[in-house]
Amino acid sequence: MHIKKLTLYSFRSYLNESIELSPKVNIFVGDNGAGKTNILESIYSLASTKSYKNKDEDMILEGKDFFKISSEIEFENRIDTLLFIMSRQGKKVFKNNVEIKKISEFVGNLNVVLFSPEDLFLLKAGPSERRKLIDLSLMQISF
Ligand SMILES: Nc1ncnc2c1ncn2[C@@H]1O[C@H](COP(=O)(O)OP(=O)(O)O)[C@@H](O)[C@H]1O
Ligand SMILES: [Mg+2]
Repeated sequence: MHIKKLTLYSFRSYLNESIELSPKVNIFVGDNGAGKTNILESIYSLASTKSYKNKDEDMILEGKDFFKISSEIEFENRIDTLLFIMSRQGKKVFKNNVEIKKISEFVGNLNVVLFSPEDLFLLKAGPSERRKLIDLSLMQISF
């Protein structure tokens, strides 16, 4: 599975931007504040419908009412489109243009493991924090 195309609309610093991703390794290069981490966060939030940093509403571009993250996810034999829309009123998720009413049924369509500098605390934190990370990762592959 890989993300073929990612489109961000009113998400953090991105007003309307599309990127095509390689099935191999993708490296984002840019100055501080250019928006590299925002891309990674958008992928994490498409997978989990949550920010990994702060309040979910903070992901909406300042001054806008909602954001949209749309994507084409390529599998061996098909392409799925996943769409996550969040406004200050709530969240909506769509798979192949059909709304999935239960967010928990949407999570699992895109499997993501995020490792960020903040996670270095895991080395110092106790075993329960480490277990939480492992649970979150394994939850995505157990049906
Ligand atoms: N909700 C938001 N609305 C508008 N801009 C935002 C929002 N959240 C973050 N930003 C902007 O995104 C930029 C940081 O992007 P980031 O992805 O962290 O950069 P980096 O390339 O250093 O990882 C900052 O300029 C910040 O002001
Ligand atoms: Mg960064």
